[in-house]
Amino acid sequence: MQELTVDNESSDLPENTEERMVAPEQQLGEQFDQSLRPERLRDYIGQQEIKENLIVFIGAAKKRGHALDHVLLSGPPGLGKTTLANIFSREMEVQLRATSGPVIERQGDLAAILTNLEPGSILFIDEIHRLNRVVEEVLYSAMEDFTLDIIIGEGPGARTVKIDLPHFTLVGATTRAGLLTSPLRERFGIQFRLNFYDPEELKTIILRAAALLGIEIVEEASLELARRARGTPRIANRLLKRCRDFADMETSGVITLPLVEKSLDKMRIDLEGLDKMDRLILEAIVEKFGGGPVGLSTLAASVSEEKDTIEDVYEPFLLLKGFLQRTPRGRMATERAYQHLGISAPPKKQDTLF
Ligand code: ADE
Repeated sequence: MQELTVDNESSDLPENTEERMVAPEQQLGEQFDQSLRPERLRDYIGQQEIKENLIVFIGAAKKRGHALDHVLLSGPPGLGKTTLANIFSREMEVQLRATSGPVIERQGDLAAILTNLEPGSILFIDEIHRLNRVVEEVLYSAMEDFTLDIIIGEGPGARTVKIDLPHFTLVGATTRAGLLTSPLRERFGIQFRLNFYDPEELKTIILRAAALLGIEIVEEASLELARRARGTPRIANRLLKRCRDFADMETSGVITLPLVEKSLDKMRIDLEGLDKMDRLILEAIVEKFGGGPVGLSTLAASVSEEKDTIEDVYEPFLLLKGFLQRTPRGRMATERAYQHLGISAPPKKQDTLF
């Protein structure tokens, strides 16, 4: 088997191998994050099982000289789906083209992308659950047979033309695998759900980022940051940068444990890593809806947040930490949530879990 993690000869690709089809402002915002992203699988921390499987799947595809099978990556935002797509292109030594579901409005948009791919390329579609159905249908034959069925003309004179496509790998990323239609989901030969990271993994990620950014941080401070980063590397790196701001403005520039505690307190991030919106959601369930169950739409309206954002961003972590339960009749706050908010819990209600 070709060993991907111990080959230290970095075969970095030329600058232009990655073509991103995203809005310029998004590109600009991502540049900062980009420098912290690991480029090779050996530098990627955490998601151990996924990494071990990927070493085999990527190694085997390379050995056969084939494109990697289509990959579906799902999980909450900030856990490294885009980073993995970048890593696939580096490891496979192929071009990466990146776009997102809502950007591809018409069949023609997708046809233009697919017909311009180089053989073996990775096509990364973020938020793939937001592709519209008409566009999605074009993907079926493209993924399965590497052909494109295009209808030319209208009415009785319309005819279908088949176009051969280069073999490519579709990497789809979604926060909600459940929203994908079965025909689309079934066409991904490789499917991974990314999990939240544990504090030790996040600590290693923070120390790596600190080294790359030239930030001085003591070990116990990095562990405290890791504990309060909602199991999410993107949040860990963001908190690290904000703590650096506090350290630069108020102390010697070194991030110590008291500095982390003070900075997170100022940013209203509590000991469990919950932020203002997490607490607002729990408080709303407890104070406005008697602890629940409360429907998602009602809850979203009461905290002035989008339903999707609550489901994709806030809820997974609150569920993981045992602050929230999903029941057939809605969301409920747990005893743990009451304890955390410092509110005495009402007598137990019976409700069945999903
Ligand atoms: N930066 C963000 N996510 C990372 C990861 N999983 N490994 C290493 N560095 C990271």
